[in-house]
Order: sequence, then C-alpha cells, then structure tokens
Amino acid sequence: MKESLIQYLSCPACIPLEGELSPIFFDNEGNDIISGFLECHLCRKRYPIADGVAVLLRETHRAGSESVYEKPAAVSSYLWSHYSDLWGDPDSSNAYGHWAKLIGDSGGIALDAGCSVGRFTFEMGKCSRLSIGVDNSVAFVRKARELAARGRLKFMEPLEGEIEREIEIIIPDELAASCVEFIVADVTSLPFKRGVFNKVASLNIIDKVPLPLMHLKEMDRVANHEAAQFLFSDPFSWSEAHTPKEWWMGGVSEGLFRGYGIDNVKSVLVSRINEGLNPWLIEKEGDVWWKIKTHRNHFELIRSLFIKAVRP
Ligand SMILES: C[S@@+](CC[C@H](N)C(=O)[O-])C[C@H]1O[C@@H](n2cnc3c(N)ncnc32)[C@H](O)[C@@H]1O
Repeated sequence: MKESLIQYLSCPACIPLEGELSPIFFDNEGNDIISGFLECHLCRKRYPIADGVAVLLRETHRAGSESVYEKPAAVSSYLWSHYSDLWGDPDSSNAYGHWAKLIGDSGGIALDAGCSVGRFTFEMGKCSRLSIGVDNSVAFVRKARELAARGRLKFMEPLEGEIEREIEIIIPDELAASCVEFIVADVTSLPFKRGVFNKVASLNIIDKVPLPLMHLKEMDRVANHEAAQFLFSDPFSWSEAHTPKEWWMGGVSEGLFRGYGIDNVKSVLVSRINEGLNPWLIEKEGDVWWKIKTHRNHFELIRSLFIKAVRP
C-alpha cells in the first residue's frame, strides 16, 4: 500500500469518530508498505498489511475464503468482464467505457467502492490525481494490484469443461499512467476520513451488501462536502443471499422502501442522508448493459440503472 494513502485513512471500527491510523512494525519498498500493521490511535485496533495488501475490515471474518468473490471462477469471470475490450474480444460489453464517460474531468481523488478487479478504478484514475479501489475480496484486490504494479497479467479463461486458454491482459498507456491503489475494505464501513473524495462510484454493489442504506450513507460521508460527483449504478437484483429482506431498498410492495430501488436511491440522495451534509442533485439517469462470462457459451447480460449525481 502506498504510504501517501495514510493521510486519507481512518479507523473503520471508530466511525463516526475518525481514528488516525499509523504504520507499525512495517517494511517498505520505496513508497510502498509491503508488510506490517496500521494501528488506530483511538481504539488501538491493528489492521494487517501483507504482500502490500492492506486489510482494513472492521470485522475480519468478511475477508474469508468462503465468499463466492474469492473463488478462481469469479476472478476469471470478472477479469474477462473488466478487461476483454482490451484484447478486442467481440463479445465484450465495454460497459466500463460507458460508465467512464459519465465522470467529469475534475482532478482530485476518486473512490471506486466494490472495485472487484479494478477496471473502473483505472478509468477514474485517468481524470484524477489518485484513484482508490476498495473491495472485501482479497483475491480481487490482489489481481487489481498486480495489474497496477506490472501493467500486465496472465489468467486462464474457461472455454468448456476443463478446456481453458491463456489470456494476457496488457494495460494500455492511457490507463497505466493513472495513479491507483487498491485496498481490502467494507463499503458499509469505509476506512476513510469524511469529505476526502471528489468523485465516488458505486457500481453493481448495493444489492450485494447486508446494509444497502449504510453503504449510501458511507459514500455520502466520504464524498467532498462542497463539490463532488457520485456515479451510482445497479441492476437491483435483491436477494436474501446478500441482504436480509428488511434492508432491501426496493423490490417490495410495503414499507419505507417499497417500489423500485432506483426511485428509492434517488429519493435518499436528494434528501439529507447524513446530518449537516448537502443533498445531491441528480444530473443524469439511464442504463448500461453489462456482461459477465462464465465460459465461451455462457454469459450473464445485466441492465444496470445509473444515476449521476453532483453536490454543487
Ligand atoms: C457484482 S460485483 C461488481 C463489481 C464491480 N463494481 C463491477 O461493476 O464490475 C460486486 C463486488 O462487490 C464486492 N463486495 C461485496 N460486498 C462487499 C462489501 N461489503 N464491501 C466491499 N466489497 C464488497 C464483491 O467482492 C464484488 O467485487
């Protein structure tokens, strides 16, 4: 993890207080902390850094290998979904290019919440001083960091049964030039100080977390309080496998969040989500077709509904 990130971090276990984090017992390679711990000044909790990967989870068990997003099949599916346009795969959706066009070129610092293997973090990095991707899958964050460090990565793409082929992802110069970093963290307790980010993105994640409203509140907390952009997109595939029904923000006919998720997210954004913070203005809405591939004849085609909001 880049040492320069520390100034933006705070302890996820102390939210809403901001516990400063300091490195202890650490080894550096240049400006990167390769191993050691980050310790909170308030609660003294220690967060490990191993092989350059910082794990800033309030509850450590969430980084467990039982998650579907830690499995090799998910890693290759998401590497294909994020990067297949780079090797000219005719089946690629180029969804990340569509989302990237919605983000304005305002410099500053960007957050990609639930970044998976990192494509949108790189995309936001093109128009930002620093772009940070966070995900609670260690397997995804490792791949994203490898791409950032080496600019290339080989993986096996499943074709049929046991038949696979080797693909090499090569990050093009326009993406490689961006300053990116990836850390393991939970999007419902983000390890950042309030107001740090000029751009925040939440793509295809709100229906994957146990507390969707908490995720929106956290995005609002860490977004700049004066001027910020928020790109939100989701297919609203609510499922009790990820979110207890009482916390769904749509897809039910009774209760506070009855009706469609997109309408409920919009009304939460335009009201005051967190006390004292300005509400968001909806600038644009629409949809992006996004594809995930499991093998050469099996794809998932997903319509992700987006909202581009700004805090003027
Ligand atoms: C459907 S994928 C979308 C990934 C990426 N944003 C995209 O659009 O391609 C959901 C992602 O959220 C991550 N995730 C799920 N729950 C999370 C949580 N509580 N905190 C951080 N990441 C989480 C998963 O590991 C996975 O990478």
